[in-house]
Amino acid sequence: MAGARGSFGTRFGFILAAAGSAVGLGNIWGFPTKVGQGGGAAFVLVYLVCVFLICAPIMIAELAVGRRTGKDPVGAFNVLRPGTSWWLTGALGVLAGVGILSFYSVIAGWTIAYIYYAATGAVTGDSAATGDFFGQFVGNAPLSVGLTALVLGVTAATLLGGVKGGIERMTKTLMPMLLIILGLLAIRAVTLPGAEAGLAYYLNPDFSKVFDIRVFNTALGQAFFSLSLGMGAMITYGSYLSKGENLAKSAMWVVVIDTAVALTAGLIIFPAGFSLAGFDPNSSGPGLIFVVLPQLFATMPGGTLVGVAFFVMLLFAAITSTISLLEVPTSHLIDSRGWERKKAVYVLTAITFTLALPSALGNGASAFFSSLPGVGMGFLDLMAIIWNDFALPVGGFLLSIFVGHVWRVDKALEELNTGGAMPGAALWGFLIRWVCPAAIFMIIVFTALDLLG
Ligand code: TRP
Repeated sequence: MAGARGSFGTRFGFILAAAGSAVGLGNIWGFPTKVGQGGGAAFVLVYLVCVFLICAPIMIAELAVGRRTGKDPVGAFNVLRPGTSWWLTGALGVLAGVGILSFYSVIAGWTIAYIYYAATGAVTGDSAATGDFFGQFVGNAPLSVGLTALVLGVTAATLLGGVKGGIERMTKTLMPMLLIILGLLAIRAVTLPGAEAGLAYYLNPDFSKVFDIRVFNTALGQAFFSLSLGMGAMITYGSYLSKGENLAKSAMWVVVIDTAVALTAGLIIFPAGFSLAGFDPNSSGPGLIFVVLPQLFATMPGGTLVGVAFFVMLLFAAITSTISLLEVPTSHLIDSRGWERKKAVYVLTAITFTLALPSALGNGASAFFSSLPGVGMGFLDLMAIIWNDFALPVGGFLLSIFVGHVWRVDKALEELNTGGAMPGAALWGFLIRWVCPAAIFMIIVFTALDLLG
């Protein structure tokens, strides 16, 4: 079975591929942005609690379902509970893969252009000019669409190489480079003049904010997205793993790498931001990465090199994630519908590109898609809400109910113990049965109320 549908070559290769899925725009852009909006260090604390108590158990559960069944998310539920409607949970994940990729690839495309802009000094140190520059750039229709196509093309080409020769090889190349650049940038950022204010903001929690339900809501949503949970990405990658691997240990590696990258991204962005006069950590949206940082790169000594390195890192992070987003629906067409990998990749790339067009055009190029009538937001933002804020938590909620109460903890543990007894098995069982579904249910309700209110 594993031979025909592909598998990872080594444990290290799997960990890097799964960590590559997890480490993405969500870590380097999303995490610092949310820390800024959530009031700094208090958010970081709540985030860490969400990662280890709620998300890590779900990652372990997804991997167990994937490896036990050796199938795509739809096929996995059909194997474990044939003749029931549970496969719909997998189907939601397959759709989410296409949905998320459709706007994620647009933003990933921006990073390509900014490598060039950073290298050529196109962006200046003036704040208003940098903002205008970004606005004109994202409003340029042929450029946005072309860059999106480029990202999808690279992603598709990687997937055509299969699991070991494509996904594993690509992530084994990009991830080490990403980690090295990240380390060098962190050292540069904390040694900037004025870095202390940023570090204080980032590392000293205001405890009155720790118990704010809004902070919890944002932190859990962010942790979910950052760890690539809720849509069967880890079911899919788990299905390519051999029985000898200890799943809980591998999951912890992925969780630790992803969290370390997010924390380090904050260590780069806050000291860097605070070293600029008039920096507002609360600046939301794309501002932080595409407007604030370029000003710094334009003015600091050696900034050209630092700027290029930063956007290269962001592109690498994005590509290892787009790969996993496309692999979920691809594995579905291969496993459950018997398609050839090549046909699956071509068809899915075409569908995703079509769905990406309104997101690519919705940042100024088309007035309609930039502010949808009656919705009050652009197409890209609407996609992000539908898929990130609802589909992923709903998927994660259903998965935790499924593993904890339908497939059941003892069966899951049989799978988790094949690579040696799992440490903390009892705690995991308790978290996946009760804590994960309750916490995720809360955030779904809260997000809905927030949107309506
Ligand atoms: N985790 C990625 C990030 O932080 C995004 C991502 C990739 C993702 N694959 C996913 C999110 C699967 C959810 C599910 O940018």
